Amino acid sequence: MQSIKLADGRHIPQVGFGTAAIGAMHQDDGYVKDTVLKAIEAGYRHLDTASFYGNERSVGQAVQESGIARKEFFITTKVWDTQQGYQSTLTALEQSLERLGTDYADLYLVHWPYPDKTRPTWQAMEKLHSEGLAKSLGLSNFRKTDIQQLLEFAEIKPVYNQLELHPYHTQPHLTEYCQSKGMVVSCWSPLGSGSWSGVAKEDKPIVADTIVTLAEKYQVSAGQIILKWDCQRQRIVIPKSESDDNIKANLQLDSFTLTDTELDQIDALNKNHRYGGDPDNAWQDNLNNPVPSR
Ligand SMILES: NC(=O)c1ccc[n+]([C@@H]2O[C@H](COP(=O)([O-])OP(=O)(O)OC[C@H]3O[C@@H](n4cnc5c(N)ncnc54)[C@H](OP(=O)(O)O)[C@@H]3O)[C@@H](O)[C@H]2O)c1
Repeated sequence: MQSIKLADGRHIPQVGFGTAAIGAMHQDDGYVKDTVLKAIEAGYRHLDTASFYGNERSVGQAVQESGIARKEFFITTKVWDTQQGYQSTLTALEQSLERLGTDYADLYLVHWPYPDKTRPTWQAMEKLHSEGLAKSLGLSNFRKTDIQQLLEFAEIKPVYNQLELHPYHTQPHLTEYCQSKGMVVSCWSPLGSGSWSGVAKEDKPIVADTIVTLAEKYQVSAGQIILKWDCQRQRIVIPKSESDDNIKANLQLDSFTLTDTELDQIDALNKNHRYGGDPDNAWQDNLNNPVPSR
């Protein structure tokens, strides 16, 4: 599988499996484990989870049940807003690792910017990195101002920023800024979000004329067109699926290549439309939604 080299020298598979809200948000059971196991059997080795998803146990069980060596996987998890701060971040990763049944995270992210806590949170993450518990460090939903704040004191620079990014929200300026600072950009909700968002299919980019026309031209699905656009733009994608066909299709992106004109046509669909939280204020809501305690 195609991988991207991070600025710290480690490699991340370009297509990962998103695990938020498999079944439902905070669902952590045999259904989640079996879905992740199906993805592993289809070939995914990069799994994206978070303490807030409340499903780290099922994700970890799928990895163990697969019988595939831990070192073959790239597992990302994240520290939630209510866990930010120095000591609480140390504890948060310890708890995530216990739930995942692993000794380390391949990539540990600050899930959302919470500027008052960024410094102690990142300093704890640097300690976790020095202890080998978090192999790479990164961000999620960080705006340019949040990154500038962090770079003023960070001894270890972030190598990754996971953003809401799909054809209706392409974030060109932030993407360019992240890349100029050595961060790989990863796209969350790359297909226009899962059922957690309540967004109807007809409002998602997978039904946009440009995407559907390209899918017909290349005899692939609309989802594959969007994921290929991201990959050709050197971004990571972490689509989530519970359907056998989509799980497999989202990994099969090698049969076609979009032209530069077609990549530009998809860029042009941007309307700065978010389906999920806005980092300008998300931390305020997030503080009212703690990580499930199990
Ligand atoms: N950092 C953050 O703040 C943040 C926020 C949100 C999400 N995330 C991460 O990003 C991941 C993905 O985001 P998401 O789950 O919101 O949405 P998504 O991956 O954009 O979309 C998931 C939806 O698309 C459908 N789908 C999957 N493959 C498809 C295909 N080839 N063609 C058509 N439809 C397809 C799925 O249905 P089926 O199940 O029926 O295939 C599901 O309804 C999450 O799981 C999570 O890991 C991170």
